[in-house]
Amino acid sequence: MNSEGGILNNRRETVLILDFGSQYTQLIARRCREEGVYSRVESWDWPLADIKKLDPVGIILSGGPNSVYEEGAPVRWDDLVGLGVPVLGICYGLQVMMLREGGVIEAAHSREYGRAKVTIQAESRLFHGVDAEQPVWMSHGDHTTRLADGWKQLAISDSGIIAAVEDARRNFYGVQFHPEVTHTPAGDKILRNFLYDICCAKGGWSMRSYSDEAIEQIALSLGDNGVICALSGGVDSSVAATLVHKVAGDRLRCVFVNNGVLRKNEASEVESIFRPRFKDSLITIDASDDFFADLAGISDPEQKRKKIGGRFITVFEAEAKRFKDAKFLVQGTIYPDVIESSSSKGPAKIIKSHHNVGGLPEKLGLKLIEPLRDLFKDEVRQLGRELGLPESMLMRHPFPGPGLAVRIIGEVTRDAVKILQEADAIFIEELREAGWYPHVSQAFAVLLPVKSVGVMGDNRTYEQVIALRSVDTRDFMTADFSPLPHDLLAKVSSRIANTVRGVNRVVYDVTSKPPATVEWE
Ligand code: XMP
Repeated sequence: MNSEGGILNNRRETVLILDFGSQYTQLIARRCREEGVYSRVESWDWPLADIKKLDPVGIILSGGPNSVYEEGAPVRWDDLVGLGVPVLGICYGLQVMMLREGGVIEAAHSREYGRAKVTIQAESRLFHGVDAEQPVWMSHGDHTTRLADGWKQLAISDSGIIAAVEDARRNFYGVQFHPEVTHTPAGDKILRNFLYDICCAKGGWSMRSYSDEAIEQIALSLGDNGVICALSGGVDSSVAATLVHKVAGDRLRCVFVNNGVLRKNEASEVESIFRPRFKDSLITIDASDDFFADLAGISDPEQKRKKIGGRFITVFEAEAKRFKDAKFLVQGTIYPDVIESSSSKGPAKIIKSHHNVGGLPEKLGLKLIEPLRDLFKDEVRQLGRELGLPESMLMRHPFPGPGLAVRIIGEVTRDAVKILQEADAIFIEELREAGWYPHVSQAFAVLLPVKSVGVMGDNRTYEQVIALRSVDTRDFMTADFSPLPHDLLAKVSSRIANTVRGVNRVVYDVTSKPPATVEWE
């Protein structure tokens, strides 16, 4: 296992998804795994030699935003034909296939986007067990107007376009709609037909098999060497460390750094979850004095991030050097991180701006172990469950590397952190109590440097403001504020204003992202 290959190897039955830039590519990968077949996404131009090495049971060509005739549009088909592997082209994937086979693709008069109905016109293994009339999800400009020789039309949409095709002799199939989205109710069945009836997959892939394979691969990579891990207490690093600990035992050193800007009781919670599991492998370092010293007098958000990232590396490096046997560093990189930082993934790529410990492995001369590289977030949680990690930890909202420092507007002091920790803990406790916590994506409190006038008993107060933030989002690139009920907000507000010293006013942030961001800094 290494940073290039994750834990993928040739032994595992895999369906290969070639990505032409669709926003739904990851969804195709998810659906295949849910059906019990491991899937792997690669860029549309992934070398043929690598495809042969992977030896996939089937190939899916994703959709994409281009038109096949556009200059520079990604087109790849010819070298896949001779592989003898079944292929399913979805939307743009179908158009690429059809174009290179000799069919005709044309621009529609208007883009077809959203719900549509298709009628299945011919028997096909792809539609086995699927009703003749189907609601589907369409999202395309171009479509096929003439089929290539040897191809057969399987379905038509209510606007009269060719909706599905096959060349059953060669096991090539194409759909103009998106079977991977939930708006295509028969999509699961269609993908299952492709995977099992057409690709003849055996299936049976599950998180348990992932865990077993990962453990085997980690053992092979590590040998007798030592390995270190920066444990943040977040889901990804916790699951990665737990997996590696199964193999490495006390050859693993998990370093948890208390930077002073953690949530209330966070350090003790990490201790109570991981000490019984990791025993002496867990090393906790309280470096909060150093972090606060670095942060003194600093108000600029980017400066705060730089200071915290820099100090973290210094602390971690010193600890790593004490552990002379260490040749590897575990990182909880997950699949969306890999996709986001890749530059060849076309227009669906997302720019990630937060790298907390970038450059660490190079600096320390360590090789990377990234056992979660192939997994989506909820698959990581599933794996964590397999490994016996507590639900409370697995379902926790994300927390930024620079911690409360980017939630204290202005200078970060110990006093400010204390106030914010208390207010934040009340908010989270009430969200949990009301059953809302698992239904929002991320919730937290922010301490503002603004003072406002209040009244307590007969006395005038002049204290700080707490802003509550709760957002709903799928990918954190865009977000909406959560529609929390008024009585819940009222309860949180009253508890914070009445019990947190230094705060006399609470406001709720009702801004979406964009134009705001999730964090205030
Ligand atoms: P923004 O504020 O950019 O946040 O809308 C999106 C998500 O990223 C998290 N975030 C960070 N995570 N280091 C991190 O590890 C950072 O510097 C950082 N800044 C924001 C934020 O909590 C949200 O989940």
